[in-house]
Amino acid sequence: MSLKSILVVVSLVLSVAIGLALRGSGGGAAVLSRKPLIGLSLDTLKEARWQVDRDAFKARCEALGAEVKIESANSDDNVQIQNVTGLLTGGVDVLVVASHNGVVMAKAVEMAHSQKPPVPVIAYDRLIMNSPVDVYLSFDNVRVGKQQGQFMVEAAAKSGKKPFKIVRMYGAKSDNNAILFKQGQDEALKPAIDSGAIQVLLEDWCDDWKPENAKKIANAALTRFGHDIDAILASNDGTAGGAIQALSEEGLVGKVIVTGQDAELVACQRLVQGSQSMTIYKPLKQLAGRAAELAYAFTQRKAVVAPDTVNNGKFDVPSVLMDTVVVTKDNVDDTVVKDNMFKHEQIFTK
Ligand code: BGC
Repeated sequence: MSLKSILVVVSLVLSVAIGLALRGSGGGAAVLSRKPLIGLSLDTLKEARWQVDRDAFKARCEALGAEVKIESANSDDNVQIQNVTGLLTGGVDVLVVASHNGVVMAKAVEMAHSQKPPVPVIAYDRLIMNSPVDVYLSFDNVRVGKQQGQFMVEAAAKSGKKPFKIVRMYGAKSDNNAILFKQGQDEALKPAIDSGAIQVLLEDWCDDWKPENAKKIANAALTRFGHDIDAILASNDGTAGGAIQALSEEGLVGKVIVTGQDAELVACQRLVQGSQSMTIYKPLKQLAGRAAELAYAFTQRKAVVAPDTVNNGKFDVPSVLMDTVVVTKDNVDDTVVKDNMFKHEQIFTK
């Protein structure tokens, strides 16, 4: 951890704690004379992963002794701003935000920091851009993209086909993570694309990460290139699902390599059934638990440890970035099952 990031976080904690003490217990041992209230504003609950995040976050906050208010914006910036406004007027002591759009949500930081006393903001999984957001927690998202791209490069080498023809589907342009996944994929694919080992037939963004948009892209590729497609580099399991639906209409399921991310239950089932080739396991319960601990620490004058930094266009945001693991049918038991995300029987249904 850099000294700078420790100092930034400690000084933030102290200034927030001073504010809390002023309206709380008056500066005694307890920072607040009541239970701390933590607000969580989610972009969406559409993908199963966000339900895991929500439940784990709530459970950890409550175990620590805090109350939690949770809102979800259904992929709508205006609704998310309204949700944040509601949480702030409802008196949350800390605000945790998984942004629909990280640029738009700079406004949430501004609103939170202008409360009296200022309310600290934690960017959860998605960075809030160009703003003095207090802390960011996520995974190393460029590395996630590299893991997906590297998987493609290895699949191309194993196939013996040259060029190995792929379709690339990115996530939502409004999501900074989607840009980071693409960046990591670009880095991993570049040598194979430059050497002609891999050819990108078509690439496009999936608005709001919707599976139906992924299906449209896959349909367009199938219309243009027929069955001459070796792989679909989908950026998450939801969009992989849309791509697989398009492939199934052409009788191509299992014949085309499809990537993903999130290790959703349906995706793990698809791994063992053979319709999806890989996913990325992100330890969501740990991320959510850590976010809850950090949020709670802000209310308790405790130092917050954020060992990494990520630049958000304004400054190097103190950050916690967790590791991710590539999952295929061969290690699903040693990863997702071992970590109690799902039971073996839920994944191996036959
Ligand atoms: C997250 C992914 C998720 C996607 C769609 C991204 O920001 O990192 O895990 O699949 O959003 O919700």
